[in-house]
Amino acid sequence: MIKVNLDGCGSLELNRSKALEAVKMLKEGTGKGNDYIGWTTLPFDYDKDEFDRIIKAAEKIRKDADALVVIGIGGSYLGARAVIELLKTARHNEIEKPAIYFIGNGIDGADLNQVLELIKNKNVYVNVISKSGTTLEPALAFRIIREYMEKTYGKEEAANRIFATTDKARGALKSLADAEGYETFVVPDNIGGRYSVLTAVGLLPIAAAGIDIKELMAGAETGIKEALSGNDDAASVVYACARQALYNNGKKVEILSYPGENYRFMAEWYKQLYGESEGKAHLGIYPSSCELTADLHSLGQYIQDGERILFETIFRFEKETIEVTVPFDEANGDGLNYVAGKKYSEVFKAAAAGVKQAHITGGVPVIELIADDVSARSLGEIIAFFEAACGISGYMQGVNPFDQPGVEEYKKNMFALLGKK
Ligand code: PA5
Repeated sequence: MIKVNLDGCGSLELNRSKALEAVKMLKEGTGKGNDYIGWTTLPFDYDKDEFDRIIKAAEKIRKDADALVVIGIGGSYLGARAVIELLKTARHNEIEKPAIYFIGNGIDGADLNQVLELIKNKNVYVNVISKSGTTLEPALAFRIIREYMEKTYGKEEAANRIFATTDKARGALKSLADAEGYETFVVPDNIGGRYSVLTAVGLLPIAAAGIDIKELMAGAETGIKEALSGNDDAASVVYACARQALYNNGKKVEILSYPGENYRFMAEWYKQLYGESEGKAHLGIYPSSCELTADLHSLGQYIQDGERILFETIFRFEKETIEVTVPFDEANGDGLNYVAGKKYSEVFKAAAAGVKQAHITGGVPVIELIADDVSARSLGEIIAFFEAACGISGYMQGVNPFDQPGVEEYKKNMFALLGKK
């Protein structure tokens, strides 16, 4: 269950009836881009045979692999990393096997080279993910990793260790996978990249990290049913209404603030989801993020005193699973005994409350999103919550939240400069 607290937003007029029209469009498939709303039913209507294959592939990887290399970008990358880092922490590679290395999400030769060094002499599996099968960044990285795998294991054994997640019929990756005999998983036609974390795109790496994907789906089912129930108090409806009301009041930038490193990729996932969905026709809230409290030592000044175009959404969990308690120190040389005996989560709550108060005073309205606990089920609900709110908010804004025509522009220029025919 996600709670939305708007007491830091002053008096806001929430256009709930417009939001419910958007919910109806999503349920009935009558809005713009309705070919891409498969995510609204996915948590309870998915390919069960493929789901079992995902679990089996993940079990094999977990049993055999020291390292799993996951290749993908944008929607074929961010969701899996967000879930893994939240549930397994950002440092999980140093703690348990398999280490999961994400590559192909940019064009950084030094990074790719480092991953090649890290996997040397390790037992390696690969999951290459690309819906189109033609995106340059992951395709390049896959060419290099494929060469490494074939040199290391031979062509046949390399094929046993490579899993491809792509379109069911089209694209260079699908053709290559069929020719080489890789096991393939499908990105459904009716789900766009940024909504695909609960398809094989996210599920295979997430399951390979040892996360219970049945729980994730169960949470998402609860979340999506609640979001699209037609209840105007549903968390996604309230959040979408608040965002649109703030936008209409001149607040053009949303800062998603979150409590530390493990949440970073959830914010990256949110930025893609909302940025690609709403940034159309010269409209839309610009999604940004702020790590509490680290970024207050860099962005804090601007948030407090800069242009008043910002609103902030503070996200946190009600219950933390990993706790640290501040010890008592007799000598108290650092003067910190006033927090002795407190848990880090209590210190964070006080910090977040202080931040909220300061920002409201500075003219930055604050929405609070509070989720239950750091678990697969809770995360499933959170994914459904953000996806549904994004669809609702996009329809309220009057755009097609499910296309991304602007993403093509840089590709055209880059391909021309690289001499692609
Ligand atoms: O949301 C989207 O559709 C994009 O961000 C894609 O996920 C991204 O460009 C990767 O595309 P593909 O999976 O086709 O390689």
